[in-house]
Amino acid sequence: MSSLKGLILAGGTGSRLRPITHTSAKQLVPIANRPILFYALDALVEAGVKDVGIIVGDTRAEVMAAIGDGSTFGLNVTYIPQEKPLGLAHCVKIARDFLGDDPFVMYLGDNLIKDGIVEFAESFRNRDQDTVAEILLARVADPHRFGVAVLDENGHVVNLVEKPKVPPSDLALVGVYFFDKTIHEAVDSIEPSARGELEITDAIAYLITHGKKVSSRETLGYWKDLGQPEALLEGNRLMLENIVTLVHGNIDAASIIEGRVVIEEGAIVVNSKLRGPLVVGGGAKIIDSYVGPFTAIGGNCSIISTEVSNSILLEGSLIEGIDRVEGSIVGKNAQLKRRQTLPKSTRVVVGDNSTVEIY
Ligand code: DAU
Repeated sequence: MSSLKGLILAGGTGSRLRPITHTSAKQLVPIANRPILFYALDALVEAGVKDVGIIVGDTRAEVMAAIGDGSTFGLNVTYIPQEKPLGLAHCVKIARDFLGDDPFVMYLGDNLIKDGIVEFAESFRNRDQDTVAEILLARVADPHRFGVAVLDENGHVVNLVEKPKVPPSDLALVGVYFFDKTIHEAVDSIEPSARGELEITDAIAYLITHGKKVSSRETLGYWKDLGQPEALLEGNRLMLENIVTLVHGNIDAASIIEGRVVIEEGAIVVNSKLRGPLVVGGGAKIIDSYVGPFTAIGGNCSIISTEVSNSILLEGSLIEGIDRVEGSIVGKNAQLKRRQTLPKSTRVVVGDNSTVEIY
């Protein structure tokens, strides 16, 4: 059997994660100080994939700089530029030369599947001859935000709808799909949806209405579409659960460390208490502060005279003199600090689409 290729989708706009994604690709937002996309690449490597095509959009320069030729992951990466986010099925269309007639796994670059996809890749490799696609499903409380599947009593998919107002089930399509070459006929046959996109959900529905067999597997482990700020914090908490203590930075004698922490080379901790799980990037400074648990501090951040927990701080950001910061995402080089001069008013320069909640 020909080998399974990978197709990762890292284009699109990331509008729900603005302002963080005004300046950066949503798939590169870090959780536990690693870009979301790196977890997708890890999952493909574990599943035995060697050749990966990555769909890139406006943020292609940044994505290409982060992943390079893929060799640090043990992958051969081919970049496939998409001029506009015209839909997930459009991505399959423009990847045709890369995919050839090989079977492939399509992985949405903003999805996080904690336990990876090894078992699903295995079941697709061992599929029976008539199966042309395998999709992953998960039960969710808010199916109207996803593609939704209806199964028959044998677990075969009989219908699929994208973001239905009245969901026919609570089984959402997870952003990982396995296809053989039959999908190309489907993506070439469908029309754009009401939102103007070529929907992969419609392409799979086309397979079903044309008598092809689409199997499904339910993922019982953790899965999240990291498209929204709350989901990002949840993904961050989850991936921090996996860290193994590694302390390289400079910690003074007055500081206390509890639990599992990663402190990278060049970080400085002075008179502070750190509670894991927590990661502190290289060059960060933590002074007279309490940090953790479930917090990821990016490289070269400064935290001074502040308590921070359950938060993500992107590279170069600063928090100073704020009593307590919780459940927050602070963008690159953003500053959050107590004003030292009168009047005692709040003064902000807040970017487009930002949210600031002051207690
Ligand atoms: O997360 C699972 C859901 O993903 C499924 O349940 C839905 O059926 C599926 O349509 C998809 O829905 P979203 O609306 O969440 O997809 P989104 O537009 O966020 O795109 C998913 C990823 O694909 C994201 O990393 C951006 C990338 N993308 C998206 C489009 C539309 C591209 O690279 N090119 C595109 O044209």
